[in-house]
Amino acid sequence: MGTALVMALVAATATGEALFQRCYACHSLNPAEQGLQGPNLAGDVGRRAAAVKGFDYSPAMRAAGDRGLAWTEAELDRFLTDAQAVVPQTSMFTPPLRDPADRAALIAYLKGAR
Ligand code: HEC
Repeated sequence: MGTALVMALVAATATGEALFQRCYACHSLNPAEQGLQGPNLAGDVGRRAAAVKGFDYSPAMRAAGDRGLAWTEAELDRFLTDAQAVVPQTSMFTPPLRDPADRAALIAYLKGAR
């Protein structure tokens, strides 16, 4: 692995962590930390939508999970671009992440939290 690639990966990790500050007010990656405005995101990547027990999801998010929506990297990428486009009437309102590199870095960071 070349030095440039290693540096890029280090930068991507740092950026993902920094970008998570946009989510931090409502979401935790610490499985023990429940009771925030948004569901716990530990282990979220690859999991079915609306799977956190005891979290009060919107009817729209529950229906999406029942239909089989799962947070693959591709679906997360779409959700972070435009949450309402993936789950119309979701109760999550956040500014879209328009830069694909930002979304990739954030998803990589989420994947690391299991
Ligand atoms: C203002 C609070 C808030 C912020 C900020 C926020 N979210 Fe959310 N998020 C929510 C809520 C509330 C839900 C549940 C939505 C529903 O039930 O429709 C949710 C749901 C989700 C889900 C679906 C989880 C599941 O269990 O199905 C993902 C993934 C997610 N958010 C990722 C993010 C990421 C990544 C960020 C940062 C870029 C972020 N959210 C920022 C409030 C927030």
